[in-house]
Amino acid sequence: MFVALERLLNLEEGYRRTFQVAGRSLLLMVVEQQPVLLENRCPHQGAPLHNATVLGRVLRCARHGSEFDLFTGQALNAHCAGLTRLTLVYDGDRIGVDL
Ligand code: FES
Repeated sequence: MFVALERLLNLEEGYRRTFQVAGRSLLLMVVEQQPVLLENRCPHQGAPLHNATVLGRVLRCARHGSEFDLFTGQALNAHCAGLTRLTLVYDGDRIGVDL
């Protein structure tokens, strides 16, 4: 089932918004001109990521400073799992997710 999240024209660099979808908290961001959708939950100890720092393509969790590559999801300086990224789906002038 396609769930629309945002209109394409609203996606600009620095965009950041959370959505509750099917009981999950998701975080949609635009990073280096690319929309990225991930679980709004740090793989380290579960802190929400919507207030994380982003520098280039690197996201730094506000709680303990673990860093992740937003495009691969990989943890850069922490021994923990990577980010849970979700595949974005385009439908007309909207972007969303297939659940
Ligand atoms: S919960 Fe994110 S770095 Fe620890």
